[in-house]
Amino acid sequence: MSAAPRGILVVDLGAQYSQLIARRIREAGVWSEIAPPQTALARAAEMNLAGVVLSGGPASVYAPDAPEVPAGVLELGVPVLGICYGMQWFCRELGGTVEGSDKREFGRTEIAIDRSEGLFSGITGETVVWMSHGDKVTALPDGFVIDAHSTHCPNAAVSDASRGIYGVQFHPEVTHSVRGKELLANFAHTICGCADDWKPGSIVEREIAKVREQVGERGEIVLGLSGGVDSSVAAVILHQAIGKRLHCIFVDNGLLRKGEREGVEELFGHHFDMDLTVVDASDHFLSRLAGVTDPEEKRKHIGYEFVEVFRREAKRFDHANFLGQGTLYPDVIESVSAFGGQTAVIKSHHNVGGLPDDLEMDLVEPLRELFKDEVRAIGRHLGLADAVVDRQPFPGPGLAVRCPGEITAERLAALREADAIVRHEIEAAGEHKNLWQYFAVLLPVKSVGVMGDARTFEEVCSLRIVSSEDAMTADVPELPHDLLLRISNRIINEVRGINRVLLDISSKPPSTIEWE
Ligand code: XMP
Repeated sequence: MSAAPRGILVVDLGAQYSQLIARRIREAGVWSEIAPPQTALARAAEMNLAGVVLSGGPASVYAPDAPEVPAGVLELGVPVLGICYGMQWFCRELGGTVEGSDKREFGRTEIAIDRSEGLFSGITGETVVWMSHGDKVTALPDGFVIDAHSTHCPNAAVSDASRGIYGVQFHPEVTHSVRGKELLANFAHTICGCADDWKPGSIVEREIAKVREQVGERGEIVLGLSGGVDSSVAAVILHQAIGKRLHCIFVDNGLLRKGEREGVEELFGHHFDMDLTVVDASDHFLSRLAGVTDPEEKRKHIGYEFVEVFRREAKRFDHANFLGQGTLYPDVIESVSAFGGQTAVIKSHHNVGGLPDDLEMDLVEPLRELFKDEVRAIGRHLGLADAVVDRQPFPGPGLAVRCPGEITAERLAALREADAIVRHEIEAAGEHKNLWQYFAVLLPVKSVGVMGDARTFEEVCSLRIVSSEDAMTADVPELPHDLLLRISNRIINEVRGINRVLLDISSKPPSTIEWE
């Protein structure tokens, strides 16, 4: 197997930004992983360690429940960077003083750089950073010098290069810290001496080697392919690793968008020439959903039916003892709050909608170490089109959660057509680049209309168009009025069963993105 890359361990002391630190380091082309303090030393001993970052945290170093950092992290023989709480912790540990400050510093702050060395190599003058702290270091441990200061924080950045210990009171990992990325890159490259080798090409090579080692010369893998980014990228990696010993199963549950099944057949079956089984289970799903209107009930039925179908299909490959999954790194590490001395909870996340444990297959998870943006970059590297890699999220229960009320084949057909129009028009106008999701919802409400000379009495469709960073919150963006009118006109004129179109202008929270 390819050797583990030299990398940086981020010790998560309960900061909300720990994952961002690792992402920024990886963006600098250096492997980085995250561990809570309880397991950090064990992890440091196992990995090919080049440096350690102690994250920020919500606590004061004097708080009774302050995260306990193993003092051994300063004795590992590699450089250490403390961020905010991490810096306060090592300053106190090494004989400095940390005090509560009467002026909390929060938000954008200008710092002046005193020494353009180490972390600040190539950075001079003043720069804007993101501060978020109450306590601050008031006396430095012996041997430390000041690298940068701000009006309220004389020790904004400090170091003892001879011991390889560096600290910043601000958060270089957030984008508001204008030169933050360079700073973390300086830590990884200049201070820790890491090469610039965490790149899509090398990641793919490494994952392929790992898959081959795990499944051996004969092992076969079954993979549930949904057409989403994660399972698509996983499929291409697994296929490159073991070719026709990968068996992809695509379940058509009757709740897919227009053209979705055909797209998967064309791309994976023909273009990539994978062993792809398309299971048309739409009748099973629709009959199970007949008469069900409660959103949770719908989800349960769909999840159950999916497992049934998958279990049945997977049995056909009784010589395949591996199950592929597109699990991502954020699913694996729970950003464990160091508060209360919790130990790490590592969960095995079932991406495909809760597959049963009794399939008795070993999991193969080629994306397990990757963040979503890395998966996208790898997807592009592997030749997947932007339309696949940048695809808007589509929920596992599919159109069912966009079809309040009873789900029937006729209502789904109308929703599918309306949704295709929304997608087509938004993409033709180039608006999709700024949007998180854009789709249609079919409401179980009928209204009166007039078409030609005839009175109509048909259902209402709502457009749901949102911008978002991560789906935790969502906003309603401004869109050209003529685009909205065009979508509305086309849906009412072209889709049978819909005679009125509304625009959903609810942000999340308090509303959710999906309607059910
Ligand atoms: P909500 O509706 O909670 O959705 O604001 C947040 C994001 O999650 C997606 N979503 C799902 N994805 N299975 C999924 O795989 C689901 O059951 C599901 N429900 C919502 C939704 O599309 C949005 O991006």
